[in-house]
Order: sequence, then structure tokens, then C-alpha cells
Amino acid sequence: MLITRRIDFSASHTCWNPALSEAENLALYGDDARPHGHGHNYVLEVSLAGEPDPVTGMIVDLKDVKRVLEEEVMVPMDHRHLNHEVPPFHSVVPTAENLAVEIWRRLAPRFEGSAARLRNVRLYETEDLYVDYSGE
Ligand code: NI
Repeated sequence: MLITRRIDFSASHTCWNPALSEAENLALYGDDARPHGHGHNYVLEVSLAGEPDPVTGMIVDLKDVKRVLEEEVMVPMDHRHLNHEVPPFHSVVPTAENLAVEIWRRLAPRFEGSAARLRNVRLYETEDLYVDYSGE
């Protein structure tokens, strides 16, 4: 069974790869490459897989999930400029794809050894665009 918790956070980013030239960055990312950055209201859906405990009836205690999301996503990322304030985005382009991978990387160890395992991270960058990541 899957259970999914949704949170939202706001962050700014600039899509710019320092390994590429200015012309290449502008051609690739267009307006998203503007150096001052721009904001998104990200929506994150974190899905955990497990079986309901026969005693509690729950796959996972949602208070624990909320705390992990607070510590690993909200505190470090909400109202931040991803490129300047959130490693590894000084050197990794903070596209939705890379942000989903980083969120997975932060969350997965927090559920290792627990009854509920991280199954999927879905990150909406806009209402019309999302990425799914479920590990390697
Ligand atoms: Ni953007």
C-alpha cells in the first residue's frame, strides 16, 4: 500500500550551468537563466510503501513523516535561493529533475530500516509540470 504526504514550499532558482558558456546557457534555459533568479511555489508529494500495522492501522506515523519533511525540505529549502543557499546547487543546476533527486537523496536514508520505505518523490514546479523520481 502507498501513502502520500504533500507539502509545498517556495524557493528561487536560476538555471545556469557554470560548465557551459553564457550563450549555451541562454540557448538552453532562456529566461530561466536570468542571474537574479525567479521563484516557484513547489509542491512535493512523498509516497511511502508499506503495510498497515495490525495494531495501529497505520503504515507510518504521519507525525514522523511531517517531522522528516520539515527537517530535510522545509527548513533547508523554503524561502531560499537554491543556487546560493542549498547544497549541492552551487554546482548542480536546480532543475525540477535535479531537485527531485536531491530531495530523494535526503529523504531515503530517513526511512531506511523503518516499516515504511520511500517509494516515490513527485515534485511539481508548476501546476502543469512535475517530475517523478524513485531512486536509481
Ligand atoms: Ni524556474
